[in-house]
Amino acid sequence: MSMIAFNDKFDLAANIRCSDKSLTHRAFILAAIADGVSTISNVTFSQDVVSTIRALEALGAEIRIEGNSAAVKPIALPKSEVTINCGNSGTTARLLAGLVSGLGVKAVFVGDDSLIQRPMRRVVEPLRRLGAQIEYKPGSLFVCQGGSLHGAVINAEVNSAQVKSAVLLAGLFAEGQTEYIEQMPTRNHTELLLAELGADIKTSYKNGKYSVSVKKSRPNAFDVELPNDPSATAYSVALALLRGQENTFTNVLVNPTRMGFYNVLKRSGAKLSICNIHTVLGEQVGDICVKCSTLSPIAATAHDVCDGIDEIPLLATMALFIKGEHHFECVGELVHKECNRVEAIEHMANVVHQQCSFDGANLTVISDGVVPCGKRFKTFDDHRIAMCGAVLSIIAGSGCIDSAPFDISYPQFLDSLGIRPLKLGLIGTNILQSVSPRMQTYLAMQAGVCCSYGIVTLAADVSDAELLRVIDSYDGLNVTMPFKIRVAQLLNADIPAVNTVGKGIVPQSTDGYGLVHSLQKHGVDFVNKPLWIVGAGGAAQSCVSELLNYGCKMRVFNRTAQNARLLRDRYGLPDEVADPVGMLTFIPECTYEQGLSLPNSCKFVFISAYMGYSAIREKAEARGLTVVDGFEMNYFQGTVGFSLWTGTPVQDDYEGYLAYVKEFDYI
Ligand code: S3P
Repeated sequence: MSMIAFNDKFDLAANIRCSDKSLTHRAFILAAIADGVSTISNVTFSQDVVSTIRALEALGAEIRIEGNSAAVKPIALPKSEVTINCGNSGTTARLLAGLVSGLGVKAVFVGDDSLIQRPMRRVVEPLRRLGAQIEYKPGSLFVCQGGSLHGAVINAEVNSAQVKSAVLLAGLFAEGQTEYIEQMPTRNHTELLLAELGADIKTSYKNGKYSVSVKKSRPNAFDVELPNDPSATAYSVALALLRGQENTFTNVLVNPTRMGFYNVLKRSGAKLSICNIHTVLGEQVGDICVKCSTLSPIAATAHDVCDGIDEIPLLATMALFIKGEHHFECVGELVHKECNRVEAIEHMANVVHQQCSFDGANLTVISDGVVPCGKRFKTFDDHRIAMCGAVLSIIAGSGCIDSAPFDISYPQFLDSLGIRPLKLGLIGTNILQSVSPRMQTYLAMQAGVCCSYGIVTLAADVSDAELLRVIDSYDGLNVTMPFKIRVAQLLNADIPAVNTVGKGIVPQSTDGYGLVHSLQKHGVDFVNKPLWIVGAGGAAQSCVSELLNYGCKMRVFNRTAQNARLLRDRYGLPDEVADPVGMLTFIPECTYEQGLSLPNSCKFVFISAYMGYSAIREKAEARGLTVVDGFEMNYFQGTVGFSLWTGTPVQDDYEGYLAYVKEFDYI
């Protein structure tokens, strides 16, 4: 899990370095059933593509990878029973459902939480019509049980190239002819490649409908250098157009059934042209040139949507920056993608105070073209939504996304934009709920710094070597329990526990600063005063050590008396301290805390738990005492680490942070 904060800087590369994902899946699948060894080069091993490669290996293909090339020896004798893990990839699941049905293999298809919610009946039903035996079983996407296939005429029920491809792949193994008829022609890579590789396949138009017919046949082996992905290039094109830059992106697949995004933009005034067009394995490839353009409102027809379904969220993102009313026709399929992408678009529009509505088929965005900076965008763990969030943030001037699953389709995404975020994070155990990623990315947006902040969960018994390796792989890290003391020892710190480490900085604890600064902010008088400390863990220790620098006399209470004694002995604290002016608790809400009484001498309390219920907090509030919350201490301790890692001034605007937190409903 990693959040990323963006600033307004990017530097677009001409070669976006991302092989077209649709073509890459298909190249590997066809190579796996070709009549000899094929070689595929310029491959981007995105997670989706790797899912397909692993699945083909499970089926019996031998795939040798060297750098960004692969040699594929086809499946000789298919394995009899296999599990196909499709990960997040709908293309893997649906295309391989067709291949597996054709091969007659028994296979259980599984996938991640997003994939198992996506509709699969659309591919299962047509394959059943060809004679495939496919079942749904709880806990899996579907199970193929074999069955001998025969041709059939299938009319498409949804606009889906994946379904069409599944049927065509199965049709290569079926007796007789298999015909697939589409209302709206979808991307045609499978039929183009099959035709180019000598399979028995024909396309035609019948009564205005596009039809593909295939007969039993085997593709020839081939060698291909894959072109770049127009869907990935689209993010660079969007940035160039929104920033008014001129750029050329080379060696991009420009198949007309993938040009929806580009066609819509051209009609909105974008000066886009394609040159150096040539053919690779039956596919058109060229360079896409972008010139400075003024964009008018976007109108995407159902046809454009079909030719650019994956780019609709990006067009909607661009629409937010263009004043006017924007229309997207027949986008219902977006609901069934890696997340509900209609909801994701509505979220982005809402966050930047623009209007968005969806009537079940058509989407309208109304924007004044003014997009505020410093906002946080949910990605719904969807790679394309994350990339839209990045574009939105960059053009807005700053912004952040709550996860960065770019590797699903486009591992070089940030690299292609010339963006190298500073790599920050938090190590600990049980830290998934930590507020640090949100807080640190907020600080980054305020400072105009581009950084990622990740959660690195390690087992408590991780080896020293591994712990050091992880630390070394980050520019800056926060350290939390149970590693504060161990990391201090491993890095030879001159204090017993650290929470902040990083390249070129002295390992240190900023917890004490966070506490003292939050007390000072509330005007609390604690210098040279008696205090009661509740708790004896890492945070209590750091704070005791810091408060000693301010001459405080402290008594430690803890449910386990022995731990209280250890802390007392370590810092030479007295057994008794009378009339404390403040009580500071570093334990979670519990019966022990409820049993504590708040002395009459107390003027303030500090509650380390964030904004939650605490018996001491309640007692203090009832008496009208000052209450300092741990959330505030957390902010101030974080500001020091951020400043050290980034060389920016220490920030001091807790109220601004709180307003941001409230806006995004974090607590
Ligand atoms: C794809 C087809 C489209 C697209 C997906 C890739 C393909 O899905 O969204 O990213 O390679 O065939 P549908 O077939 O579900 O429209």
